[in-house]
Amino acid sequence: MGKDVIIACDFASKEQVFNFLDKFQDEKPFVKIGMELFNAEGPDIVREIKRRGHKIFLDLKLHDIPNTVKKAMAVLSRLDVDMTNVHASGTIAMMEAALEGLTREDGTRPLLIAVTQLTSTSEERMRDDLLINEPMDKVVMHYAMNAKKAGLAGIVCSPLEAEKVHNTCGSDFITVTPGVRFADGDKGDQVRVMTPAEAKKIGSDYIVVGRPITAAEDPVAAYRRCVNEFVG
Ligand code: C5P
Repeated sequence: MGKDVIIACDFASKEQVFNFLDKFQDEKPFVKIGMELFNAEGPDIVREIKRRGHKIFLDLKLHDIPNTVKKAMAVLSRLDVDMTNVHASGTIAMMEAALEGLTREDGTRPLLIAVTQLTSTSEERMRDDLLINEPMDKVVMHYAMNAKKAGLAGIVCSPLEAEKVHNTCGSDFITVTPGVRFADGDKGDQVRVMTPAEAKKIGSDYIVVGRPITAAEDPVAAYRRCVNEFVG
C-alpha cells in the first residue's frame, strides 16, 4: 500500500486553492477536495487540479439510496479521482452499489473508502440522537467490517483507531487518518491527535493533514516535514 500524505485543501474558492498549490514547484502532493470547494467551484475544479498532475481524494461522503449513490459514483468515476468516500451507515447494500457505480468498464476504479462514525459524534450523541446503544469502538469496528464485506478498500478513522482496524479487517484494509499535528504545533479544534511519525508507527496508510500545512508560514517546508516523518 502506497503510504502518502494527503493535504486537505479546505479552501472556499479556486483562486485560494491555486494560490496555495502554486507554491509547490518540485512536488505534486495528493490533495483532498471537500464539499466546500467542490460545491463552490463544481466538477471543473477536480479536472483542473487533476490536469496539474495531483492525485485527488474527493471527500463528498455520499449517503443516499443505493441507486442514487451508484449513479452519482459513476459520474465521479468519470472525473478520474483517485479516492472517494461514502458513509458506512448507508448500509452494505449502499456501499456495494457505490462500488458498482464507481467501477469503470475496464474494471478499474478509484479507491472507495467509508466514513464510520464521524469523530464529531460522541458516544452520548450516538446513544441519545441515533439510538445506538453500543460503545463507539464496537460501532466503528462493525462499520469497518461492513465496508470490508461490501468490497471497499478501507475507511477514514482516527489515527488512534488505525491499529485496531487493521487487526480487525486485515493489514491490507486501508486506513486514512485525519487529526494529525506536529509535536510542536497548534491542535486547533482537533482533540485526539497524533504526529505524522506516530501515525506511521501505528500503521496508518494515508494521513490527511490540513491546517498544519495550509496555514503554515512555509507550506512546502511543512509538507516536506510531514512526508519525512510519515513516509521517509
Ligand atoms: O486542518 P486539519 O488538519 O484539522 O484538517 C483535517 C481534515 O480532515 C479536514 O478536511 C476535516 O474535515 C477532515 N476530517 C477530520 N476528521 C474526520 C473526518 C475528516 O478532521 N473524522
